[in-house]
Amino acid sequence: MPLDRTIKIAPSILSADFANFGQEIRAIEAQGADWVHVDVMDGHFVPNLTFGPQAVKAFRPHVRTVMDVHLMIAPVDPYIDAYAEAGADVLTAHVEAGPHIHRTLQAIRGAGMKAGVALNPGTPAEAVAHLLDLADLVCVMTVNPGFGGQKFIDLTGKVRRLREMIGDRPVHVEIDGGVDPTTAPLVAEAGADVLVAGSAVFRGGSVEAPEVYGSNIRTIRDAAEAARAAA
Ligand code: DX5
Ligand code: ZN
Repeated sequence: MPLDRTIKIAPSILSADFANFGQEIRAIEAQGADWVHVDVMDGHFVPNLTFGPQAVKAFRPHVRTVMDVHLMIAPVDPYIDAYAEAGADVLTAHVEAGPHIHRTLQAIRGAGMKAGVALNPGTPAEAVAHLLDLADLVCVMTVNPGFGGQKFIDLTGKVRRLREMIGDRPVHVEIDGGVDPTTAPLVAEAGADVLVAGSAVFRGGSVEAPEVYGSNIRTIRDAAEAARAAA
């Protein structure tokens, strides 16, 4: 079955109101989000701390689309079952997080989830060359992970290279960091299909003014689709 390569917008709830995740998730989905991106940070692999499995489990009933859980933690393997239990649909681990990413991806699939592999900006596309049959998604970080609201690093050459390496395998290419209406076209044109956006989706909106989320999502999607169509 061919993979759905249409543009998917995945708002990162790292930019949501931390006192109100349930309503925030429902608001972004009602306003057109395709996936919900959950950034898990451990204060060790990255210099910030966010959500453990219990928090992610509490988000689950509010997510009707796809819960896309991005682990910025090391080690990964001891926590895979807990995030499966929490209800992750896609679980992504960093290639830099440990020596045995191959085993990690097998364990993620073994636990019944789609397996993602993420690359820090300094890691070349070739780092996943031998993993493409074990992964359902490759996440190209376009900021150094740890915080929302950072400046986009232009890695379109790497995205293009990855798309070539993937060929017709059913693997999503996700971009994470600094995606907004000006950067989305660059990565969409280079072959990305899942666009994570935190600050660019939540900026200016709230659960009381959710239509702002909708117009932010639409603006990013339109810019990405236009670049695809022109390519
Ligand atoms: C960064 C996270 C991103 C981040 C994106 O460590 O993985 O998902 O929240 O936020 P923006 O879109 O604001 O760069
Ligand atoms: Zn992320």
